[in-house]
Amino acid sequence: MTGAIRPLVAGNWKMNGLTAQLAEAQSVRNGLGAPPPVDVMICPPATLITPLMLTLKGSGVLVGGQDCHSEPCGAFTGDVSAEMLADAGATTVIVGHSERRAMHGELDRIVRAKAEAAHRAGLIAIVCVGETAGERAAGLTEEVVHRQLAHSLPDAATAANTVIAYEPVWAIGTGLTPTAADVARVHASIRERLQARFPGEGARMRILYGGSVKPSNAAELLAIDHVNGALVGGASLKASDFLGIVAAYKA
Ligand code: 13P
Repeated sequence: MTGAIRPLVAGNWKMNGLTAQLAEAQSVRNGLGAPPPVDVMICPPATLITPLMLTLKGSGVLVGGQDCHSEPCGAFTGDVSAEMLADAGATTVIVGHSERRAMHGELDRIVRAKAEAAHRAGLIAIVCVGETAGERAAGLTEEVVHRQLAHSLPDAATAANTVIAYEPVWAIGTGLTPTAADVARVHASIRERLQARFPGEGARMRILYGGSVKPSNAAELLAIDHVNGALVGGASLKASDFLGIVAAYKA
């Protein structure tokens, strides 16, 4: 049971989106109509955070970043700090996405430092975890996810400042999804771990599912116990698809 947890549907645009893509965000804004019973967020590339924030101003749709450095400022060419994201209009930042872990060598301790930086800057951290295809085939899914949780989450994580995103690496961008039973099992085990480590908070932390979420499977995935929303990649780039996923909550 998810109780009174308010779900979150967040779109991760990844490294997609020139200024013209703001039109899709405008269409999301126009298409939402009455305020949905969920939080809706778009995480564009850093270059679009401020213009997107202006596009969405007053709509209730939130804006997030996709990554941050752990330091507030300094000689880190090319990096963006959590404080900079907040200054640009973001309320949230994704940390530890599997693409960062795999392509930028981000270890759990780095992810944890980034989550701490997010909290320091007053941002919500969406901390991503998830097993690879090989780990899944070896029956290591829970072990991997539990280890990532243990080492990537700051001790000061609360239901207000931290969201977990379970994204099986093999389900990202592939069109493949775990069975509902698999999602239910992993999310329940994440909930158990959160409750054990963060008494009083862990029961209320949002646990998102991510990996090939689309309008056609959103209703089934989002109805699973302890699935408190979605982190959406490809389908978030098209307003009609993203709205179709948010609409799963109205059905
Ligand atoms: P897709 O929805 O494209 O599979 O991507 C999921 C993801 O990585 C969101 O962060």
